Amino acid sequence: MFKQKRKTMKVISSIGRLQQVIKQIKKKNLSIGFVPTMGALHNGHGSLINASCKENDITVVSIFVNPLQFGPKEDLKQYPRPFKSDLAFCRKLGVDILFHPSAEQMYPESFSTSVEVKGLSDVLEGKFRPGHFRGVATVVAKLFCMIMPDKAYFGQKDAQQAIIIERMTKDLAMPIKIKVLPIIREPDGLAMSSRNIYLSKSQRQNSVVLYKALTLARQLINSGQRDAVKVISRMKQLIKTVDEAKIDYITVVEPYSLKPVSKITNGCLICLAVRFGSTRLIDNIVVGDSWKLTERFKK
Ligand code: PAJ
Repeated sequence: MFKQKRKTMKVISSIGRLQQVIKQIKKKNLSIGFVPTMGALHNGHGSLINASCKENDITVVSIFVNPLQFGPKEDLKQYPRPFKSDLAFCRKLGVDILFHPSAEQMYPESFSTSVEVKGLSDVLEGKFRPGHFRGVATVVAKLFCMIMPDKAYFGQKDAQQAIIIERMTKDLAMPIKIKVLPIIREPDGLAMSSRNIYLSKSQRQNSVVLYKALTLARQLINSGQRDAVKVISRMKQLIKTVDEAKIDYITVVEPYSLKPVSKITNGCLICLAVRFGSTRLIDNIVVGDSWKLTERFKK
């Protein structure tokens, strides 16, 4: 599916070494694209890496399972870390630098700084995962400082995360263009995720109901339904036909503020989080067809 290049990939785990290499790249005036990840790479990550390779001279991918963004009862220890296959995946796609620091490197005992994007971080996912987005913003800010990319690539899969990072970049005047790319799905519609491997066979089969619910919403909207309560209620009805599925939220939000809307308009985000046993899946669609983050955040 993805283009192949033959070149050597630098694998770096020390922050100091990374910064030396970045300095050399900057001296040569080469552009840098950056794709932050937590590893267990799949084609969703692949599409971001491919875009970066296409649009920049140098592509840096980070693999770091960031402890700051996991709650005390979440899956930090269990999170998949198939480093060897991730390495091969990155090599195959033509990544130039793979950065994989240890937690001790990133957060020495004296580490005391955090980045918080207020308001946007406390709703939706933030409500169910307190502190999660503080962890995300902090690690992404630190990675941005080290890598100083021209462009950084994020997936619409984690729409709230992308919106928060975009806000942070604007607020802190970071000279980085944030690119948000579409969700890559399995053939049956389930959004690819490193956590899908936690699903049992029946949960995996049933999980397709999420995409069906989002598709239903799109159909209703296309046929003229603009009442958010009605659309959400139909989506809930459908998801509730699956016993195993427990809804955390389904909501339609205004894309600048993530505030719920009652009347659906183009550009709104319909997002949901549903649990299958202990596995939480999130998914979303943008009403209308495209994700226009950069235009949304001109202010
Ligand atoms: P991770 O879950 O590994 O995701 C890395 C990037 O891949 C994110 O921008 C995410 O939105 C994107 N992605 C994941 N699944 C996708 C899919 N099916 N289609 C398109 N893009 C997809 O998100 C994180 O890591 C972390 O929070 C991180 C930003 C690295 C900070 O620790």
